[in-house]
Amino acid sequence: MRNPKAKLLLGPGPSNSDPRVLRALSEPTLGHLDPDFVAIMDETTELLRYVFNTKNKLTIPISGTGSAGMETAFMNMVEPGDKAIVCTCGIFGDRMVDVAERAGAEVVKVESPWGEPIDPEDVKKAIRKNPGAKLLAIVHAETSTGVLQPLDEIVELAHEAGMRVIVDAVTSLGGMDVPVDRLELDFVYSGTQKCLSCPPGLAPVTVNEAAAAFIRDRKSKCRSWYLDLGMIQRYWGSERFYHHTAPINMIYALHEALTIVKEEGLEARYKRHKEAQAALIEGLADMGLKPVVNEPFRLPSLTTVWTPDGINEAAVRKTLLEEYNIEIGAGLGVFKGRIWRIGLMGTNARRHYVVQLLGALKDILK
Ligand SMILES: Cc1ncc(COP(=O)(O)O)c(C=O)c1O
Repeated sequence: MRNPKAKLLLGPGPSNSDPRVLRALSEPTLGHLDPDFVAIMDETTELLRYVFNTKNKLTIPISGTGSAGMETAFMNMVEPGDKAIVCTCGIFGDRMVDVAERAGAEVVKVESPWGEPIDPEDVKKAIRKNPGAKLLAIVHAETSTGVLQPLDEIVELAHEAGMRVIVDAVTSLGGMDVPVDRLELDFVYSGTQKCLSCPPGLAPVTVNEAAAAFIRDRKSKCRSWYLDLGMIQRYWGSERFYHHTAPINMIYALHEALTIVKEEGLEARYKRHKEAQAALIEGLADMGLKPVVNEPFRLPSLTTVWTPDGINEAAVRKTLLEEYNIEIGAGLGVFKGRIWRIGLMGTNARRHYVVQLLGALKDILK
C-alpha cells in the first residue's frame, strides 16, 4: 500500500468519506446470504427510503458508481424503439443521451446553453412534436455546470403526456431535497460519493409502483444482464435469490453513511449545504470572483466560478493540491479552462473547510 495522504476533496466528487464510514468498510466481510448481512441489507433499504424521502418499495443500492445507476435506469425503463426525450445542458445530460441510445431508445434532445437550466417551454414543444414519446429524462443537479434544475413544471408536462420520468440525482441526494414522492418521479438514481460522503461504488436507486410494474411487464428482455432490476430485486426482496455477489463492505459503508444522514436530519443537512455555499460565494466575491450560475438555479453542493483573467487556472489547482492538500475541479466541455468547480458535499459542507479553501486560494493568487 502506498499510504495515500488525506486531502480535502472540494471538487465535483468524490467528497471525503466520513471517518465512521471508512471504519465500517473495514468490518469483517460476511457471506451475501448470511442472516447478519441480510439484516444489514434490510436496514440499508429502510435508511435509503428515509434519505430519498420516499415510500417506494423498490429502493436499493445498485453495485457500481453513479453511472451504473444511470445505465440501470435506461436499460430497464426503455423498450428498444421507444422514443425518449432527453434533456441536456451539460456532460451528464449528454451521457444520458448516449446511454439511452445504447438501451435502444430513439432520442429526441432538448438542450439549453451550459450554465442555464432546461426551459420548460422547450420541453412542451418537444412533447407536442413527439406525441408518442414514452420517456423523459433529466438531470436534477448538473455537476458539469453547477446548475440546479427545477423539476416541477417539466415533470408535470411529462406525466400529463403519459411519459415515464427518469431523474439523475447523483449530486443532489443527501445535499438537498429530491422530490421523489411529491412529483411521483418514476425512476431516480444517485451515487454514494457526493453528498452521502461514502466512497464511490454504489448507486442508490428508487423506483415507483408504476415504473416497477413497467419493468415487471416489459415485453423485451432488459439489455443488460448485470443491471437487470427484475433479477436484482429478487435478491433484495424476501426471496434472497442469488444474482451477483453483493459488494458486502460497501453496503456496510453505505449503511453507516445513511445512518449519519439520519442522525443529522434531512432539513438540517440541506440547511448546512446552503449555508456553506453562502459563505463560499461571499468569500469568493471578496476576492472579486463571480459565480457562473445565478440564483435560483445555483446548485448548493457544487459551485462553479469564473477563473480570474490572466492567470493559469491549472497551475492554481496544481498548487492547491500539492501544497495545500485541497482538490477543486476544472471546467469541462465549453467551460474548460474558464471555470473552477468547487464541491461542498456531505461532511465537507462546513464553514471551516470554506475558510481553509479561501485562505489557500488567496495565498496562491497573491
Ligand atoms: C450528475 C451526475 N450524473 C452521473 C455521474 C456519474 O457518476 P459516476 O462517476 O459515479 O459513475 C456523475 C458523476 O460525477 C454526476 O455528477
